[in-house]
Amino acid sequence: MFARTVSFALLAAASSIGCGPAVKPSTAPRAPVDAVAPSESEPSTADVHSVARPSEVVVRHTGLDLAVDFGAKTLSGTATLAVERLDGDAPLLLDARDLDVRAVEVGTAGQLRPLANASVQWREANFAVDEAEFGQAIRVDLPEGSDAVRIEYATAPGASGLQWLAPEQTADGTSPFLYTQSQAIHARSWLPCQDTPGVRSTYDAVVRVDGGLTALMAARSMPSEEPGVFRFEMDKPIPSYLVAMAVGSVKFAELGPRSGVWAESSVLDRAVAEFGNVESMIDAVEALYGPYRWGRYDILVLPPAFPFGGMENPRLTFATPTILAGDRSLVALIAHELAHSWSGNLVTNATWGDLWLNEGFTVYVERRVMESLYGREREEMEAMLGKQDLLAELAELPEADQRLSTDLTGRDPDDGLTNVPYEKGALLLRLLEETYGRAAFDPFLQRWFTEHAFTSVRTSDFEAFVRAELVEKHAPLAGKAPVDLDAWIHQPGVGPGAPSPHSAAFEKVDASLRALLEGKVQATELDTKGWTPHEWLHFLRAIPEGFSAEDMATLDAAFGLTASTNAEILAQWLEVSVRRGYRKTDAALEAFLLEVGRRKFLTPLYRALIESGRTADAKRIYAQARAGYHPITQRTLDALVQGS
Ligand code: BES
Ligand code: ZN
Repeated sequence: MFARTVSFALLAAASSIGCGPAVKPSTAPRAPVDAVAPSESEPSTADVHSVARPSEVVVRHTGLDLAVDFGAKTLSGTATLAVERLDGDAPLLLDARDLDVRAVEVGTAGQLRPLANASVQWREANFAVDEAEFGQAIRVDLPEGSDAVRIEYATAPGASGLQWLAPEQTADGTSPFLYTQSQAIHARSWLPCQDTPGVRSTYDAVVRVDGGLTALMAARSMPSEEPGVFRFEMDKPIPSYLVAMAVGSVKFAELGPRSGVWAESSVLDRAVAEFGNVESMIDAVEALYGPYRWGRYDILVLPPAFPFGGMENPRLTFATPTILAGDRSLVALIAHELAHSWSGNLVTNATWGDLWLNEGFTVYVERRVMESLYGREREEMEAMLGKQDLLAELAELPEADQRLSTDLTGRDPDDGLTNVPYEKGALLLRLLEETYGRAAFDPFLQRWFTEHAFTSVRTSDFEAFVRAELVEKHAPLAGKAPVDLDAWIHQPGVGPGAPSPHSAAFEKVDASLRALLEGKVQATELDTKGWTPHEWLHFLRAIPEGFSAEDMATLDAAFGLTASTNAEILAQWLEVSVRRGYRKTDAALEAFLLEVGRRKFLTPLYRALIESGRTADAKRIYAQARAGYHPITQRTLDALVQGS
């Protein structure tokens, strides 16, 4: 009931975009939306990670005015929230985490945006800040007639959604750098908000910085006359986890008519070369799933401490520099973040237990883009690597974490992040594609995106949509069995009838490795000419336990793997080296762990050290590296390394 209420309200808001204020100034009590929402027996669908009650009061527009202080490591200023009141008696409940709330005022704006143009008479509000499971809850009483709340606050230096980098941690080494990472529930650590993906708000922002630095947000840049003052506007309603900002010394280069890249000076040329086909990627997704709805698509290359590969902040993907391989071999990550402009940013999981609706769909779309740009063979290699990751992880995961639709009650969504929503989700969509054929499935998926645009959806919405639009309207292709949706979504394991991606190139790699293991060829005789990084990855992953440190040394001498400049290959090689006791990589390993903060690389490397009896090395390196890692990476590695 709860989520239906939210979707209903969101649909109403979405439909009013571009035709006047999305919130009517009236605050007269309305009939609860529950009364008109279709009722259906569903489990309680409230977002367990947020204290917000959007069925009572919902934030529709957010105005930020923040000053960036690198010395104090704080953002401080005001957040002004325009709310819609669905229950005239209810207070506004906001999520926060370690915010220093200095003042709270209420007023009557009578309009959504620009809030700045509304002449609001602010009055001191009655409010309270209480501890909550994932931070704090700010409760603001709303007197009759008030529809706006202004909060003056500052962030904590250790805010979980911010990373403050010293100049030494950047590529150019000359200026400090700040960036945000709001997904999943870190927006609350830098702005008071209804921090649930079930709520969308438009926003505008003023960001004040000193020292000639540039401020960027994942929004439209607006003209500003004053030096050091940057203005932004996001006129599409977005969930809080997509609010993003970065401040540093960065330059811009154009990639295409609606795409470009921001990076530090010393990285910019490499980034331009690596991302040269972004415009064709946008064209490829549009051809499949309809227009790109966000205007521009730019990429910001962050310093190497960034804890993820990429983050799909709207209009401005944040990316790790570890994908700059020099040969575009790792651009699937850009295809992935771009694909989120449909799966995730346009159609959003309503709660973190529905993450597969974002990530599984995105991996599926990413693979379709890779196929249309680079051909089926490359796509199949990537699909095989993805399925290998999934199967390896399923072998270790508790059954409850193997389902697509998960119950995350009591857990931080960062902790439950596995390949299941990504790769099992993508396999399910591929199975539907194979069962009904692209002629039926492609328009079906396009309709899923357009009919749910700018709303937040539950797994049950997708199940109903598949039944109505695919199962009831189309028969499976000849020889294809119907898809057991329920097993795929609600049961553990990979799912019945799972697709088997196939790569002829990988079979050749397998044969080469077999010949090597059987002593039929020497490492120096391996025919690796023309191997792509994907083939190398497949090869390195398949090195068996019996492979000795001497064998590793022979490979290294033949192929210079320790000197690889491809971060995926290097990380995989370092991990195998640790596990096989090949110690010539120790210096490279230490350098990598000290420089790179990407959690996906660090976790297997520290784990390999610990599982190889080198816990002391793991702890020593971690003690030195920890301060340079993002709070999200620190949290994961504290549990792994300090707990061992
Ligand atoms: N949105 C995710 C990153 C994320 C997920 C952050 C959940 C916090 C919570 C992003 O789109 C992503 O999936 N990144 C992947 C890359 C991808 C190619 C699988 C990553 O960072 O490795
Ligand atoms: Zn993703």
